[in-house]
Order: sequence, then C-alpha cells, then structure tokens
Amino acid sequence: MENIGDKVQKKPVRLIAAVCNDGGIGKDGKMPWDLPFEFQWFLNNVTRVSKPGKMNMMVWGKLCWFSHPKSTFPLANTLHAVLSSTLDTVPDHAHFVCKNLEAAVRLAGEPPLAGLIETIWIVGGTQVYKEALEHPWCDLIYLTKVMADFDCNVFFPEFDRGLFKVQEGFPGVPSEIQEENGIKYKFQVFKRESGDAV
Ligand SMILES: NC(=O)c1ccc[n+]([C@@H]2O[C@H](COP(=O)([O-])OP(=O)(O)OC[C@H]3O[C@@H](n4cnc5c(N)ncnc54)[C@H](OP(=O)(O)O)[C@@H]3O)[C@@H](O)[C@H]2O)c1
Repeated sequence: MENIGDKVQKKPVRLIAAVCNDGGIGKDGKMPWDLPFEFQWFLNNVTRVSKPGKMNMMVWGKLCWFSHPKSTFPLANTLHAVLSSTLDTVPDHAHFVCKNLEAAVRLAGEPPLAGLIETIWIVGGTQVYKEALEHPWCDLIYLTKVMADFDCNVFFPEFDRGLFKVQEGFPGVPSEIQEENGIKYKFQVFKRESGDAV
C-alpha cells in the first residue's frame, strides 16, 4: 500500500459489526436479526464525537447503503461515504461516493475535511470490512457476538486474532451478556496490539 502518511492526516479507521455463530452478518441484502438496542449501540458509537462541531465519516458498501432503512437518516455528527466502482452520482442522503476505501481515507484526512473528521467508521459489508482490516490505521473492531445461528449469505471476514486482541473492561462497553427478542449477544472490542495504530 502507498504510504499516504505524509500527505494525509491520520484518522482512526474502526469497524463495527454484529456477527452470529458462523460469522454471518447478512442475508439477501438484509440484517438477519432484529435487535433494536444493539442497533442503538451501533448508532451511539458511530455518532460519538469529542466536542460539538466535529464529525465522523461512515463508510458503506453500496448494497449495505441501499438496503439500510432511510428512516435512520440524517444521523448526527456524520458524513456518509458510499464505496462503489460503478456509481457516478452520490446517492440520496449520502455525502460522497468513493472508488475505494483509500479514497475515503484520503478524503477524510485532507482539506477541507481534515480538521472536521475524527473517526472513520466502517459499517460493511464484507469487502469494505476486509479492506479496512488490512488498513494500517485500523485500530479497533467493535464486534457484537450474536450467540445464535442464523441463515446468512454474507459473512464477516476472518481477521488476525494475534494482531487484534479482545479487550476486557474496555471503557464504555458493557461486559454483561445482553438479550433482546430471545436472542443473546455480547459487545466486544478488539484492539490492534502493534503496528501503525492511531
Ligand atoms: N451484521 C452487520 O453488522 C452488518 C453490517 C453491514 C452490512 N450487513 C449486511 O451485509 C449485507 C451487505 O453487504 P455485502 O457485502 O453484500 O455488500 P456491500 O459491501 O454493502 O456492497 C457491495 C458493493 O459495494 C461496493 N464496494 C464494497 N466494497 C468496496 C470497496 N472496498 N471498494 C469499492 N467498492 C466497494 C461495490 O459496488 P460496485 O459493484 O458498484 O463497485 C460492491 O459490489 C446486507 O445483508 C447487510 O444487511 C450486516
């Protein structure tokens, strides 16, 4: 990967996903489960900024963007970048379309956004997650472990659990097992233990 560190302000690249027993995250363009509190957890994380006036960038794969309920938007403190090699125009409610993750990382780290953006949140699907896991600025993975079996056809990529280590007692992350609609799940954070983390 090209070294962009000299030219582009470094922003933490963070993944957030909910993953069931076999690593599944989606089925036919939809979420396999209905977990409103877990979804609120996702929203709280991606919209959190350190002070008023700051923003985060949310990075979406194209299918993920178009399958998301539009009632979610607008989201506070958030600029939306949709990744696509084929889209020529910015979709409704989004702010940018980027050809790949690196283009989104550059956009967030160069003027005029560099002074505004705090965190780049990667919200799926598979290809975007995969690319983000390999990015040297990826420092945290927020992974909700859904403790159940679901029929899925989209999966979270394998990642190096020697490099990203699960954190006990990570600030702001409840350690108790949660339950909604009869489905148990657990919030987890994995942190990059070495390398070029922010
Ligand atoms: N459980 C969870 O936490 C979670 C989170 C997110 C999504 N999901 C689920 O996952 C499914 C959607 O994910 P998906 O993997 O099928 O599709 P996706 O990543 O949302 O969309 C795939 C398309 O996005 C574009 N794209 C993705 N990554 C790119 C990259 N790095 N660079 C350039 N373009 C890129 C490409 O569009 P072009 O063909 O135009 O190039 C690609 O064909 C849905 O079922 C959704 O509900 C679940």
